[in-house]
Amino acid sequence: MAKILAVAALLCSAISSVQADIPGAASYTVSSAFPTSVFSSYYLKPEATAEPQPVIYDPILNTTFPLNLTNPKTIPTVNTDPVYYPQAVTNLTNATSEALVQVALSEIKSIIAGEGGLSGNCSKCIAALSVGKFLAQTAPSYVPDAMISLCQSTGFTSNASCVTAYAAGSYGAIWTQVLALADVNGLDGRYICSTLSTTFCSAPSTSPLNTTGLFPKPKPANATAPQPSGERVKVLHLSDFHLDPRYSFASEANCSSGMCCRYSSAMTSQAVFPAPIYGAYKCDTPYYLGLSALQSIGALTGTGSGQAAPAWTIYTGDLMSHDSQNQLSRAYTEYIEVSVYEMFKSYISGPVYSVLGNHDSSPEAIDGPHSMPGPLGQQFSWNYDHVSSLWQNNGWFNATEAKQASIHYAAYSVKNEYGLRIITMNTDFWYKSNYLNYINSSNPDVSGTFKFMIEELQAAEDAGERVWILGHVLSGWDGTNPLANPTDLFYQIIDRYSPHVIANVFFGHTHEDQVMIYYANNGTVQNTSTALAAGWIGPSVTPLTNLNSGYRMYEVDTGTFDIYEAYTFYSDVNNFSDLNGTGPVYQFEYSTREAYGNASSWPADAPLNATFWHGVTEAMEADKSLVTTFNTYQGKSSIRSPNCTSDACAEAKVCYMRSGSVALGKACPQGFASVQSPYTGKNF
Ligand SMILES: *[C@@H]1O[C@H](CO)[C@@H](O)[C@H](O)[C@H]1NC(C)=O
Ligand SMILES: *[C@@H]1O[C@H](CO)[C@@H](O)[C@H](O)[C@H]1NC(C)=O
Ligand SMILES: *[C@@H]1O[C@H](CO)[C@@H](O)[C@H](O)[C@H]1NC(C)=O
Ligand SMILES: *[C@@H]1O[C@H](CO)[C@@H](O)[C@H](O)[C@H]1NC(C)=O
Ligand SMILES: *[C@@H]1O[C@H](CO)[C@@H](O)[C@H](O)[C@H]1NC(C)=O
Ligand SMILES: *[C@@H]1O[C@H](CO)[C@@H](O)[C@H](O)[C@H]1NC(C)=O
Ligand SMILES: *[C@@H]1O[C@H](CO)[C@@H](O)[C@H](O)[C@H]1NC(C)=O
Ligand SMILES: *[C@@H]1O[C@H](CO)[C@@H](O)[C@H](O)[C@H]1NC(C)=O
Ligand SMILES: *[C@@H]1O[C@H](CO)[C@@H](O)[C@H](O)[C@H]1NC(C)=O
Ligand SMILES: *[C@@H]1O[C@H](CO)[C@@H](O)[C@H](O)[C@H]1NC(C)=O
Ligand SMILES: *[C@@H]1O[C@H](CO)[C@@H](O)[C@H](O)[C@H]1NC(C)=O
Ligand SMILES: *[C@@H]1O[C@H](CO)[C@@H](O)[C@H](O)[C@H]1NC(C)=O
Repeated sequence: MAKILAVAALLCSAISSVQADIPGAASYTVSSAFPTSVFSSYYLKPEATAEPQPVIYDPILNTTFPLNLTNPKTIPTVNTDPVYYPQAVTNLTNATSEALVQVALSEIKSIIAGEGGLSGNCSKCIAALSVGKFLAQTAPSYVPDAMISLCQSTGFTSNASCVTAYAAGSYGAIWTQVLALADVNGLDGRYICSTLSTTFCSAPSTSPLNTTGLFPKPKPANATAPQPSGERVKVLHLSDFHLDPRYSFASEANCSSGMCCRYSSAMTSQAVFPAPIYGAYKCDTPYYLGLSALQSIGALTGTGSGQAAPAWTIYTGDLMSHDSQNQLSRAYTEYIEVSVYEMFKSYISGPVYSVLGNHDSSPEAIDGPHSMPGPLGQQFSWNYDHVSSLWQNNGWFNATEAKQASIHYAAYSVKNEYGLRIITMNTDFWYKSNYLNYINSSNPDVSGTFKFMIEELQAAEDAGERVWILGHVLSGWDGTNPLANPTDLFYQIIDRYSPHVIANVFFGHTHEDQVMIYYANNGTVQNTSTALAAGWIGPSVTPLTNLNSGYRMYEVDTGTFDIYEAYTFYSDVNNFSDLNGTGPVYQFEYSTREAYGNASSWPADAPLNATFWHGVTEAMEADKSLVTTFNTYQGKSSIRSPNCTSDACAEAKVCYMRSGSVALGKACPQGFASVQSPYTGKNF
């Protein structure tokens, strides 16, 4: 008897020692039955061979979105949303405006031909911008068609791409604003020309930043972070959901460009790779997949029924599918905002703190500062009003917090019930594809985002609060996504307020599982004693491109808001075609402490902070197998990830991890940043 008991005890300890590293079930097989109760009614009910079309009612706008907005066979390709032009300096007749367009086009063509005596591409481009600026200031509504005409007649891109890029409702009206308001002969012009093509002008590097008077107070010499409470709560981190309500079952999942799994009237025979009901590597998240991920969270993270709920959840942006611009609209954006937040509300208890991603706007990636003249300063308020009202409506925000977000680009500073302050930013103000950033680009903070952040951080320091910073587009890594100057300013802010105030920083955007370390003194010395803050990039729910679907859960101390455990979960998208009778399997992928803690000799009771992560990069330098581990997790264990076994790749990866700004990231060897290759050429 005693012997049996001893064996049982041994068995129990064996089980519990395994389970100690796993917060919940090791895997969760989703039921094949679609959870229909999430939505109150359907235009088309879910079937085994058809994605559902739920009826989405917008509680803020008091409208019900029509089926034809999301029906795969009726995707609108003409956008009828309002467009905004800069105010003309004078009122011309139509005939005069048309004559001016002809003069401007022929002048630009002669500049391109070198007839004005200019030879270099950069100076030609800038001279052409001056002509464009004149047109944008005198006949603004004529600029989009003039740009399409110029684009097509010079063969700049294909005729169709010219229309998609420069039609008024795509980016044409936005470019008109940029031309009218930018300093085209200065830094703005160089940014615009390098964005049009890096064969025109090279991308400007970081400008000197005047930090005198930047902060209200110098960094306190004796600053200390609060003490741990010893109490830990679970916090979810979801990112890049990219719901595709237009996903079409059995359509081509291996298309040749852009996002796949969309109906095509041109398709006459069966697809080479028919889109599975749960999703595919080159496609965004169908309803079946998004709800599978959400259904699995409770069991895998140990926050399901009968267990402690997550204390809060962070969502680091991008709700929308990767449609081409002509298929996007305000209504489509609003539909997805309502639908995804509603699904979160159904499966996740506690507040969800969200930021907008570059895809969560229309036109995609565009947001404008309030300081733009006249109505242009409010041209995106419809979106900030909408999401902030939804957050309030879902019980995640009170009226004061929602109001703050609505007037501040959907960003905010709020203190949660545990005492953590969450400060968010709309990272379109540093995203390279937000063309409005090219107006007044020598000022790294036209929107006031960083002024707000500094005020809130100073108040937090004065009040002894700890802060998490949330954004979407990451500040560094290989430095290819944001603009250099705002990330330089951000880096100084992180330095000033870390680690005693800023406990952690979070981003999304790349869809990959990555991390960045911020250091003291602008990153000039990178070691364990200068590491100040860690930037966690959350893995995406969407598989696009060539990635598995995943999410993360942190265990967080309620005194310091440091992270003590980070668990990542994923589903293997590769076997979605073979599922028969069940939904996908979501499973535990890894524990950050278990994966890297021993190799970096990190104490079991110390937080997973910037010092820890710097130690991990040193361990990676000593042991390349750790780089391979990191690389595997980067793609959420996708079988499609390229390996990182060369010394060049390992060196680059460590460099990206130590780069929290564009200046630092661009100084790293390039070409190893993403595991999605062959890269599809579309912005993330
Ligand atoms: C919502 O719209 C319906 C008609 O579509 C209208 O009857 C109703 O009064 C509206 N409700 C509110 C609160 O505006
Ligand atoms: C879509 O349906 C709505 C309502 O049924 C209708 O008003 C609208 O004209 C339709 N749009 C298109 C492009 O068919
Ligand atoms: C042009 O016309 C509009 C509308 O008639 C008017 O509001 C505006 O002041 C005029 N602008 C100039 C520069 O005369
Ligand atoms: C001038 O062109 C606009 C559209 O560009 C049109 O709405 C308007 O009727 C035209 N005015 C005249 C006088 O033709
Ligand atoms: C200048 O631009 C042309 C047209 O895009 C391109 O073919 C050429 O390579 C560019 N020249 C340089 C030096 O980049
Ligand atoms: C830097 O900013 C401070 C405070 O705004 C100002 O007094 C100083 O002149 C600036 N320095 C330079 C070089 O622009
Ligand atoms: C830090 O120094 C300031 C001024 O020198 C002092 O007022 C404050 O009490 C000190 N704080 C701690 C935690 O020692
Ligand atoms: C909303 O919550 C904040 C704390 O973040 C609190 O200061 C404020 O009074 C609350 N406002 C309302 C209207 O409840
Ligand atoms: C990280 O935690 C360790 C152990 O508590 C501590 O020594 C170190 O200073 C911390 N690093 C940062 C940047 O807070
Ligand atoms: C799915 O499984 C059932 C039995 O459970 C089998 O009859 C059927 O052929 C399978 N379908 C496919 C496509 O493998
Ligand atoms: C890693 O990938 C490279 C390039 O695709 C290949 O040549 C090499 O054999 C791979 N190494 C391993 C260990 O799989
Ligand atoms: C920080 O360092 C980068 C180089 O990594 C440099 O371009 C930038 O000007 C520096 N910023 C400040 C404020 O010194």
